[in-house]
Amino acid sequence: MGSFISFVPTPFEDIDTFFELAPMSSADVVYDLGSGDGRLLFAALEKGAGKAVGVELNPTLVHEVNGTAKMRGLEDKVTFLEADVMDIDLADATVVLCYLYPTASAALKPRFESELKTGTRIVMESFPIHGWKPVKTKEFGYKTFYLYRMLPEIIDEDEEEIVCSEYCDCG
Ligand SMILES: C[S@@+](CC[C@H](N)C(=O)[O-])C[C@H]1O[C@@H](n2cnc3c(N)ncnc32)[C@H](O)[C@@H]1O
Repeated sequence: MGSFISFVPTPFEDIDTFFELAPMSSADVVYDLGSGDGRLLFAALEKGAGKAVGVELNPTLVHEVNGTAKMRGLEDKVTFLEADVMDIDLADATVVLCYLYPTASAALKPRFESELKTGTRIVMESFPIHGWKPVKTKEFGYKTFYLYRMLPEIIDEDEEEIVCSEYCDCG
């Protein structure tokens, strides 16, 4: 698919907003789609996440962040993959963090729907997922952060067809 956005790191003072929307526990497996220098995932581990996975297209950033993880003694807890976010399996994520342009969320939305488990939380920085209703939003400075939670699809038992998703805002 290629790059959705270049490296624009989340300012350090904005990072807590992710975890106010999605508090961490040791059971959490946190993905950052487009992980840059790893700052969101290092913060997630500090906040108590059990495991973290970063996915990043830029090989220089991946090389550097793997060095940082090693220096901090976190190699067992965090993995940074040099890969396109469209090519990785998201099935074991319990939390997904994402600061990518809307073209990325449009491309990722069907993958979220098919791969993420019920209960998985997604926090989008600045750009919402079109057509989904966030369970919560939070303003920080000039930005908005959007929290979504994957819920089971509603099945119309008479019709035996999916009529809607609870996270859909179509009605
Ligand atoms: C806006 S930066 C955010 C970095 C980090 N998540 C943060 O909040 O500080 C987006 C990152 O996504 C990476 N990226 C863009 N498109 C990507 C893709 N298709 N697959 C993997 N990484 C991608 C960029 O190289 C960049 O480092």
